[in-house]
Amino acid sequence: MKNVIILDHPLLKHKLTHIRKKTTNTKEFREYMIEISKLTAYEVLKNIKLKEIKIETPVAKGKGFEIEEKVNLFPILRAGLGMVEGYLTLLPNARIGHIGIYRDHNTLEPVKYLFKHPKDTSKKTLNIVLDPMLATGGSAVAALTMMKEAGYTNIVLVGLVASQKAIDKITKVHPDVKLYLASNDGKLNEKGYIVPGLGDAGDRLFGTK
Ligand code: PRP
Ligand code: URA
Repeated sequence: MKNVIILDHPLLKHKLTHIRKKTTNTKEFREYMIEISKLTAYEVLKNIKLKEIKIETPVAKGKGFEIEEKVNLFPILRAGLGMVEGYLTLLPNARIGHIGIYRDHNTLEPVKYLFKHPKDTSKKTLNIVLDPMLATGGSAVAALTMMKEAGYTNIVLVGLVASQKAIDKITKVHPDVKLYLASNDGKLNEKGYIVPGLGDAGDRLFGTK
């Protein structure tokens, strides 16, 4: 699929395996989430726009590069919050929009409760949506629709583990959005959990179960 990029760096595979394990505790889960997010950022930001600048080293005058493109990060609450720190380490000036969506446990339909976002909707700004879990795809599709309604373009979505159903749905409804993933796990179980997945990412991240 043209707009779906599965990241397959060995470090990412290694850390993803650890974060999946049921024996990984909350502290470790958070740490892995940050490290994994940072690794995805290298690929996601591969084409970020730079400007050339003049510099002076202790030895001579020279030229260098600075990031020119502005970046907004949009974590989908709650689990997307776990990915923010990894991106902020690399992009300390990024602004953050919070997208509050949870999926109803019975219907699996997304329920929206918060959208607090930066004012900058310029098409020159890169908007990175973060959610580690793309299960039915309902939450991600709703988040992207909310963003577009607010005027954002130039949007990419970064997930860690996805089902094929989510990939099909997101790419069908939002074909303009590039989707970066660490793994396509394929299936969902009868409760809408990704199999094998990593369980409930929000609960594991915040220790709420
Ligand atoms: C999780 C996850 C995604 C969503 C994916 O959030 O972080 O946002 O489920 O499922 P979907 O693709 O079927 O919509 P959850 O609903 O558990 O919210 P919470 O972490 O705030 O409890
Ligand atoms: N949300 C999660 O956190 N995990 C899943 O497997 C599905 C939805």
